[in-house]
Amino acid sequence: MKKITIAIDGYSSTGKSTVAKQLADHLGYVYVDSGAMYRAVTLYAMQHGIISESNFDTEKLIESLSSIQLKFIKEANWNKAHIFLNGKDVENEIRNLEVSKYVSPIATIHEVRVKLVAQQQLMGLEKGVVMDGRDIGTVVFPNAELKIFMNASANERAQRRYKELIARGETVDFKDVLKNIQDRDRIDTTRDDSPLRKATDAIEIDNSEMNLEDQFHTVLQLAKDRIAGRV
Ligand code: DC
Repeated sequence: MKKITIAIDGYSSTGKSTVAKQLADHLGYVYVDSGAMYRAVTLYAMQHGIISESNFDTEKLIESLSSIQLKFIKEANWNKAHIFLNGKDVENEIRNLEVSKYVSPIATIHEVRVKLVAQQQLMGLEKGVVMDGRDIGTVVFPNAELKIFMNASANERAQRRYKELIARGETVDFKDVLKNIQDRDRIDTTRDDSPLRKATDAIEIDNSEMNLEDQFHTVLQLAKDRIAGRV
């Protein structure tokens, strides 16, 4: 069967990764969480004193880029691939609120984007990939056969994210989570390099009022139509 490329973009915590993963599993495609790559670079910067409350050394990060190796590895008993930063599994660590706070500024740096976009394009060379992020349909795979743009209200997204963090055992305030979402929306949409925007040929899905099953079936039908060349 013909393999296609599926790009899923949208605001933070719109459930992009959930639907992208479901779709990839169902179609037997590779799922790539591009946000995990920006988060892993951010973790590296935090661990090396490049970014902190009082410091943001863009030049040092650019110089360090050649020392940052990212790899996705999936073991049979994991339900998704984990991201490895210089050989260490950091899948869990990159999801905390501290990394979320710094990741959007890091993702504005042109040199960081050039490195990660090149790696993402390599992963999609053979098609059969579902990738989620902010610039997948606009920059990484402008020729993707299916582009989805996901949206939901900031309040709804913050509620979902808050529940996720609490379930992971983190102590967080709802207002901090909401502020983080609003800050990231602002930085992601207003940065100079590859700002988050809906590609002109993307299909927008607002899932504020949708359950996971309805959302999955909507997206799956779109994918089946594109694979069959119906639309
Ligand atoms: O999808 P996420 O929330 O894990 O992404 C974390 C941050 O990384 C997000 O605030 C913006 C950035 N990002 C990006 O700029 N481009 C991508 N393709 C994916 C993520």
